[in-house]
Amino acid sequence: MAEKVIAFSLDELRKRKSVKWRFYEKDVLPLPVAEMDFPIAEPIKAALREMIDSSDAGYLGPFPELFKSFQKFSNELWGWNPDVTQMRTATDVGVGVVEVMRILIQPGDKVLLNSPVYDNMWRWIAEVKAELVDVPLKRNQLEYSLDLDAIESAYRTGVKVHLLCSPHNPVGTVFNELTLSKLADLARHYQVIIISDEVHAPLTFAEHKFIPFLKVSDTAREIGITVTSASKTFNLAGLKCALIITENENLKEKINAMPISVAYRASLFGAAAATAAMSESNEWLTGVLLTLDENRKLIAKLIDSKIPSIRYRIPDFGYLAWLDVAALELGDDPAKILLERGRLAVNGGHMYGPSNLSFIRFNFGTSPEIITEAFNRILQTHV
Ligand SMILES: Cc1ncc(COP(=O)(O)O)c(C=O)c1O
Repeated sequence: MAEKVIAFSLDELRKRKSVKWRFYEKDVLPLPVAEMDFPIAEPIKAALREMIDSSDAGYLGPFPELFKSFQKFSNELWGWNPDVTQMRTATDVGVGVVEVMRILIQPGDKVLLNSPVYDNMWRWIAEVKAELVDVPLKRNQLEYSLDLDAIESAYRTGVKVHLLCSPHNPVGTVFNELTLSKLADLARHYQVIIISDEVHAPLTFAEHKFIPFLKVSDTAREIGITVTSASKTFNLAGLKCALIITENENLKEKINAMPISVAYRASLFGAAAATAAMSESNEWLTGVLLTLDENRKLIAKLIDSKIPSIRYRIPDFGYLAWLDVAALELGDDPAKILLERGRLAVNGGHMYGPSNLSFIRFNFGTSPEIITEAFNRILQTHV
């Protein structure tokens, strides 16, 4: 049986070189940046060690085992069997989405997103000089959903690409099949291409059902492109390797017109690590989900016992909690006040869209001790 994956201690984490642990001063407890504080899976370490030991540190070229391992992984998780001849590598999800958009649109074309959404999506749209169209998620208390009527109105104005975040960071929602199917129908009707960023999908908790966009329907396969990576799930963001996937011959040809450099600008270490992750690290993934499940529930308990005025909906996936701290009256930038007064770093709601100022995004991919200490710091700031 899989065992929980245990996070490193704070002392060990402070020796890390990644941005999460280098960016802030030493007395700050850092919980922004979507990295987890766990050891990576043993099969990944072994694959990387073998390459280091044999000085195998060249460029990435043909790497069919990566595509096969993703195919098997997605088949086991979601019953989706993507075609390996329609997969390509890219440096990371960000580069993959940007390069796909460069092929699909001209500067000035409209690209749609749904706020509050992963902050870099806003920057990717700026990078390709597109016109950004925001159709906010519909919100009922802390339940969020795609606003299909508003999306249709926006599509009607000539949107070329819809950047879908599925499942949705930071609100923690997995979209249901019916919604995605209706979205695909709308996109086809208005000739919109949907780029589905599914990087968080394998971290969906058991009581929810994630549906890969390209599995939804024939229509979805006609207008959809998936960009994903092992980087979030297996904590490999620094190793740089993502996948761009189509399931339709026309889109395949279109996307294959990308410069060949897009594929080899991914890293050989990233491809090997992602392969070991998706083909040999299932037990680790099960263990991480056990840990994250306890952590997401711990947050609910800490809120109840320490600061019940914070509003929180237990997320459907991953390690990011979207907390409404309006009642703490920390102003329009609560993250700034928490950093200044509590020496706690979290992401401010303003990063994800203009109307989420009372929120913070809290990374719970860490130990119960660190999560508890973070809540003590919030409490300190509050009183
Ligand atoms: C929705 C989403 N897409 C992409 C990324 C980043 O992926 P990559 O590092 O592969 O670009 C993140 C990171 O948090 C994310 O939340």
